[in-house]
Amino acid sequence: MFSNTIKAVRGALLDVRQVVHSPTELEDNLRYISDGLMVIDQGKVAWHGTWDKGRVLLPEDIRICDYRGKLIVPGFIDTHIHYPQMETVGAYGEQLIEWLNTYIFPTEQKYANKRYAREMAGLFVCELLKNGTTTAMVFCSVYPESVDALFEECDRRNMRIISGKVMMDRNAPEALQDTPESSYLDSRRLLQKWHKRNRLLYAITPRFAPTSSPEQLEKAMALREEFPDAYVQTHLSENENEVKWVKTLYPERKGYLDVYNHYGLTGERSIYAHCIHLSGEEWQTMAETDSSIAFCPTSNMYLGSGLFNYRKAINKGIRVGMATDIGAGTSFSLFETLNEAYKVVQLQKEKLPALEGFYRATLGGAHTLFLADLIGNFDIGKEADFVVLDPVATQVQQLRWDNSKTLDEKLFVLMTLGDDRNIYRTYVDGSLVYSCTR
Ligand code: GUN
Ligand code: ZN
Repeated sequence: MFSNTIKAVRGALLDVRQVVHSPTELEDNLRYISDGLMVIDQGKVAWHGTWDKGRVLLPEDIRICDYRGKLIVPGFIDTHIHYPQMETVGAYGEQLIEWLNTYIFPTEQKYANKRYAREMAGLFVCELLKNGTTTAMVFCSVYPESVDALFEECDRRNMRIISGKVMMDRNAPEALQDTPESSYLDSRRLLQKWHKRNRLLYAITPRFAPTSSPEQLEKAMALREEFPDAYVQTHLSENENEVKWVKTLYPERKGYLDVYNHYGLTGERSIYAHCIHLSGEEWQTMAETDSSIAFCPTSNMYLGSGLFNYRKAINKGIRVGMATDIGAGTSFSLFETLNEAYKVVQLQKEKLPALEGFYRATLGGAHTLFLADLIGNFDIGKEADFVVLDPVATQVQQLRWDNSKTLDEKLFVLMTLGDDRNIYRTYVDGSLVYSCTR
């Protein structure tokens, strides 16, 4: 019997039982309950199972949120995204370095203004929730105000978000540069203010090796040593010209990843976006240090960066999560991101099955962010972040749904044709935070 503070949700429940170390284990770990019940108490999953078994446990007068005909899945996890870049999605025609200089650096300067940052953080979080994304690892801009704005917005909704202040002291407009000392002091202050406050987590955030001097990376290392349970997020080997540039900026290092490794920035809770042009030795270092990769397919196609070797990463046992990388990425939707991921993998003559895609966007993403003990599936005790999907939001989806026989086929149709129109409700910490108005 439950207390009367609980919330009860009925519908088809789909999740993955446990973290897997090979995609072949996924089928046995899929949990699908066609008529399920999930009970939530104080933001946590208190019970889940079949409706028939669970209904007798409920207090008599409880109101059930009835989502029969819909599909309830864990909230989606976006392992790399930039909130100040929401307003530059779809900037035309350039590859990484020119794109940063032409579009991104001018835009990020607007986030020195706290009022503006707050307004944009609000829009950004709404867009995440509208797409069913309940956890994200987010770049702010270089200004501490932009970090406060995002964390305040996420704290208000009790979201599990990882974020941090960009550290950048060279190769960017002066107005966007900090110094090794100021970036250390600002990051440290923000970390102490936000890390582990409610559900928030802090990431030490050197933008990428070209915009940090060796002195600044030393400061990032000092922060990591002082706060070993904080995160690190940065970019790695996205574009061929970028890789060449890093070689000229850090000639004493063996390669791009060796720069980060030298400054103690690899390891658990270090998340690297892109990782397209890695050498054999760098792949090895990623695996040996248990560093994570954020796979950003829409971004990589959009900026013409290259094809991430997803299957190689998985075969090496590296943690890989899905990422939109807004604003080089072109969609907030993890469905659209998986759709592009499938094509990136296809171009390399490999496959990305629907179930594996679903895992990457949920429990696999949580594993990538070292959060699988807290989020990613419906285990009892987990934080109740979940999405109610309308699996047939368009006529074409309806046709494809009707002529798909297995759950696997249906999931694949969602992964290929799905977008924000399929997000019917989003719940964070057991509370309804987005409701589709169509
Ligand atoms: N490398 C350094 N900064 C960025 C950024 O803002 N976006 C992308 N895609 N790559 C980067
Ligand atoms: Zn990025």
